[in-house]
Amino acid sequence: MSRVIMGIETSCDETGVGLVRLSENDAADATATGPRVELLADEVASSVELHARYGGVVPEVASRAHLEAMAPTARRALATAGLTLSDVDAIAVTAGPGLAGALLVGVAAAKAYAAALDVPLYGVNHLAGHVAVDTLEHGPLPRPCLALLVSGGHTQLLRVDDVASKITELGSTVDDAAGEAYDKVARIVGLPYPGGPPIDKAAREGDPEAIAFPRGMTGPRDAPFDFSFSGLKTAVARWIEAAERNGESIPVPDVCASFQEAVADVLTMKAVAAAREYGIGTMVISGGVAANSRLSALARERCEAAGIELRVPRPRLCTDNGAMIAALGAHVVAADLPASPLDFSGTPALP
Ligand code: KG4
Ligand code: ZN
Repeated sequence: MSRVIMGIETSCDETGVGLVRLSENDAADATATGPRVELLADEVASSVELHARYGGVVPEVASRAHLEAMAPTARRALATAGLTLSDVDAIAVTAGPGLAGALLVGVAAAKAYAAALDVPLYGVNHLAGHVAVDTLEHGPLPRPCLALLVSGGHTQLLRVDDVASKITELGSTVDDAAGEAYDKVARIVGLPYPGGPPIDKAAREGDPEAIAFPRGMTGPRDAPFDFSFSGLKTAVARWIEAAERNGESIPVPDVCASFQEAVADVLTMKAVAAAREYGIGTMVISGGVAANSRLSALARERCEAAGIELRVPRPRLCTDNGAMIAALGAHVVAADLPASPLDFSGTPALP
């Protein structure tokens, strides 16, 4: 038997609708590994261009864009999968964390579909979705595994015993998220928003050792698995100011490469240390910043040296999408967890 799960994501600036197929394994197999989940469709409509001139996401603009994109994106996903709404067996939707008005649109749509189709509705955690999405590419997640979640809104190290029901936070950023640091540094050096892709590109032409930027929270008295990127951002700004005062031209590729090296160094150093500390043999890196070329290269190098299996979903699955919510929904369905009541609401600050 197999079931089709639709996932709806509207926590920030991407309207995502994904469809997955959950195949029932035999019970012993399921306990050992986890359910088998296959990707059927992953459609995303982004409002990122509408926010670009503001240098960050404008919540009201995002909500309006979700409202316009919701139904067409769902129709596109069904068409891609060659399915109709009546083939959908359950709906999963991002319940949080995210922007209140943006979440509201996805939650309202999910309730409407669930009520109309008379299928169960599951409000799920966006961050767990970023981890669950890896199963679409690399199969069931070993238990436990370590997740390094790096996006525009979050930077966390998680111990994942069961992606549907047991995730423990080992550490998180005390100030800016890694993606936020990329976006702010891009603005400082005059590159467009979102800053990750243009910095990644510019860094390829630069020297990562040109400037010794600080590695935040790596002192002996700092929390070993927490992060801080606000000091790094300030250090970049101070360095540029000093160069300008001295009438020097700004070597943007060197600044980008050195900044990127500092971020990748701290993220991978702490993630590998956490895996060692907890005796975990598999690491998943996900979220928009996982698309960063230097982060994945350095993670690969350090995981290999430490004997840790590294899993990084393809970039398209790392950024926000509906397939990750559908994948998590499939795990929740497979685990027989209770459905959400039709009157549940989104929780912007969901832990
Ligand atoms: O996961 P995501 O799509 O949305 C959030 O939930 O935040 O992540 C977006 C973030 C942005 O800050 C963007 O600058 C960053 O991911 N990003 C990157 C790269 N591609 C996207 N950061 C570094 N290198 C990249 N190649
Ligand atoms: Zn995200």
